[in-house]
Amino acid sequence: MTYVAHPERNDRITYNRCGKSGLLFPAISLGLWHNFGDVDVFENGKDIVLNAFDQGITHFDLANNYGPPAGSSEENFGKILENYLGSYRDELVISSKAGYYMWPGPYGEWGSKKYLIASLDQSLKRMGLEYVDIFYSHRPDPDTPFEETMEALDLIRRQGKALYIGLSNYDALQTEKAVEILESLGTACLIHQPKYSMFNRWVEKGLLDVLEKKGIGCIPFSPLAQGLLTDKYLHGIPKESRAAKSHGFLQKSEITDELLEKVQKLNELAGNRDQSLAQMALSWLLKDHRITSVLIGASSVEQLNENLKCLDHVDFSAEELDRIETILGS
Ligand SMILES: NC(=O)c1ccc[n+]([C@@H]2O[C@H](COP(=O)([O-])OP(=O)(O)OC[C@H]3O[C@@H](n4cnc5c(N)ncnc54)[C@H](OP(=O)(O)O)[C@@H]3O)[C@@H](O)[C@H]2O)c1
Repeated sequence: MTYVAHPERNDRITYNRCGKSGLLFPAISLGLWHNFGDVDVFENGKDIVLNAFDQGITHFDLANNYGPPAGSSEENFGKILENYLGSYRDELVISSKAGYYMWPGPYGEWGSKKYLIASLDQSLKRMGLEYVDIFYSHRPDPDTPFEETMEALDLIRRQGKALYIGLSNYDALQTEKAVEILESLGTACLIHQPKYSMFNRWVEKGLLDVLEKKGIGCIPFSPLAQGLLTDKYLHGIPKESRAAKSHGFLQKSEITDELLEKVQKLNELAGNRDQSLAQMALSWLLKDHRITSVLIGASSVEQLNENLKCLDHVDFSAEELDRIETILGS
């Protein structure tokens, strides 16, 4: 059946400018790290992506190693593009990354020019694309000069294989250094993708300031701490949850009594705001004008739709913010 996107899709979400660039991002973006590999049900992943697009989500985030097996998320996304979304390519912002282990030998991970160029070519083939909108260095490489990694990103942009360049998992100092090198080459850094949620706030200690100063956008990943910032683990570990899956990156050992006590209190506070905890956790990130978009994952259409409703209530009273600090600090 031919897919026709919802005619009012772009009125259903907020779009935010990414730093000082010309590119707008949906306030919520969808990542394909989990739930889109060959171990998952293709139909479910396809339904999530098409529903996201129908709701105005224009940004889909991938990486070479997403699956499992590594590469299969890009392949499956390529099938969704080919069969359903192909005619909407110019309405999509698609990203990929390289940095983590992808293939054996010395050229299959980290930050050499050899690896980054080869990896993006593989990603483009898997997705059936001529270019990605954003290509990221997925992590800083302690053994490759930043100059080489940035030269590779600059080359990729100049070749037209990526329209924009991003950095992920670089700390504040590394970001400043990398951005300066990119600027000296004539390439801007569009966006930074750090891990950031109520449970992981390292970006508040310098990175967000650097990004604001440089006019670079910020798209936090794992904003729900992989599902911990929802009510799903309050009464045990559900069978189909990420923590229960052998290939899931969320470890059961992370779900401690101490953490669940905080989750319980946050859940109550969210209820008082007429939000689910997932919605409150996303709203809490989006209240900061430096956050361009939050990059969520979802294992069902229902989760995605629930999370999108966070946009109805992104403001917090001073009392609510204080209460959150108390709970998180306790
Ligand atoms: N740059 C990097 O190094 C890096 C690293 C990690 C991720 N990322 C990117 O960030 C994206 C998002 O990461 P993430 O998947 O960890 O994000 P997340 O939003 O923190 O977690 C998503 C998971 O939480 C659960 N969930 C979501 N909404 C829910 C709801 N309303 N109620 C109950 N459970 C809910 C689902 O897991 P269940 O399976 O349990 O239902 C879902 O798969 C990735 O896809 C990827 O694109 C980037």
